[in-house]
Amino acid sequence: MSSLKGKHIVLGITGGIAAYKSAVLLRLLIKKGAEVQVVMTPAAKEFITPVTLSALSGKPVVSEFFTANTGEWHSHVDLGLWADLMIVAPATASTLGKMANGIADNMLVTTYLSAKEHVMVAPAMDLDMYASPSTRRNLATLACDGVEIIEAAEGELASHLVGKGRMAEPEEIVERAEKFFSRSEDMKGVKVAITIGPTYEKIDPVRFIGNYSSGKMGSSLALECAERGAEVTAICGPVSVYPDHPSVRVIKVESAEEMCKSALEDFEGCDIGILAAAVADYRPEVFSDHKIKREGTEEMTIRLVKNPDIAACVGSRKKEGQTIVGFALETDDAALNAEKKLDRKNLDMIVLNSLADKGAGFRTDTNKVTIFSRGGRPEEFPLKSKREVASDIVDAILKYRDKQKIQG
Ligand code: PMT
Repeated sequence: MSSLKGKHIVLGITGGIAAYKSAVLLRLLIKKGAEVQVVMTPAAKEFITPVTLSALSGKPVVSEFFTANTGEWHSHVDLGLWADLMIVAPATASTLGKMANGIADNMLVTTYLSAKEHVMVAPAMDLDMYASPSTRRNLATLACDGVEIIEAAEGELASHLVGKGRMAEPEEIVERAEKFFSRSEDMKGVKVAITIGPTYEKIDPVRFIGNYSSGKMGSSLALECAERGAEVTAICGPVSVYPDHPSVRVIKVESAEEMCKSALEDFEGCDIGILAAAVADYRPEVFSDHKIKREGTEEMTIRLVKNPDIAACVGSRKKEGQTIVGFALETDDAALNAEKKLDRKNLDMIVLNSLADKGAGFRTDTNKVTIFSRGGRPEEFPLKSKREVASDIVDAILKYRDKQKIQG
């Protein structure tokens, strides 16, 4: 039985030639047992008629905020709450830009902004538009917001030019939707604890030792686990964005010592522990209560002492059935150093990201990782959005746990 059976899907259609494929997509979704509500932008109606789509879906198509002759208001909030999944296919450059920037001037974008559940977009446009910095930026923003991007394919385009910009085939979109629903419960009942972001080590009331971690990688992981049904405790250093989800409990800490105390408590009862934080290895030995003045001092020496290694502490207390996953942020001899950390900290897996790779590591919306598992072969992934990387990491963790269970 398809995982789409009984699911409520909003199919958003925008104004592009590929809109004709949306009729096929709609039919496939209905055949798999989904209930589908079509929402069209005004421009989409130039490419395919609402009559075709309402006949296929068995529901009136929604496009305007009001029905002109009766004044009846169509609630985008209700639609957003009703949907288990929203698919925008085809998604034009214009709609992607509106979605990424919250420009709510049509029913499709307001529905997107009210959507409570997962959203997928299947872009379709000319090759140069698809490759333009503006489209790439909007797609990166959407990916960062948790939207799943079904990348366009290569082929002949409406302009008769050949390149990347064709909407993914309806069969592929349906497959992605089925995969989403079959995965969305695969962490049900699993408890996850995760450290996220940087730590700040105080020098005086105005200064600290810190690092560039934004918390994006860790937050993406927390959200990915929560969306797949896990109960998550996120121990966050001073990050710019905290993971916001009903199943994520956020604990805010500042220093490595505070993070360590919290981690030792919260990793105790977890099934999966993930150490994504960039913890300061050292802290000033002495904290000055007063702002240190520069007058009369040509040089300053701050004596540093070692912070606890949270990953090693957690690793040394690992219990039967627990899986502990660390990260390795390297600049040189990356693979060798990652493997050494895997052993030294008694971890099950380690996710290597190297600052030598463009687009990987701190602050970026993307990352490029290699996952090392105890007793397995390293698995290397291409550059992807941090949200997609989080999904790959979670898949790898679940695979590792299944293997452990089989091996007893
Ligand atoms: O937050 P972003 O801007 O999105 O960037 C993400 C990231 C680059 C911070 C993240 O992907 C990452 O690599 N985090 C780990 C960074 C790090 O401290 O790596 P490390 O190789 O120095 O440490 C190895 C492991 O030990 C890590 O799991 C780390 O969390 C842990 N550790 C390190 C030192 C320490 N005192 N305690 C620890 O728990």
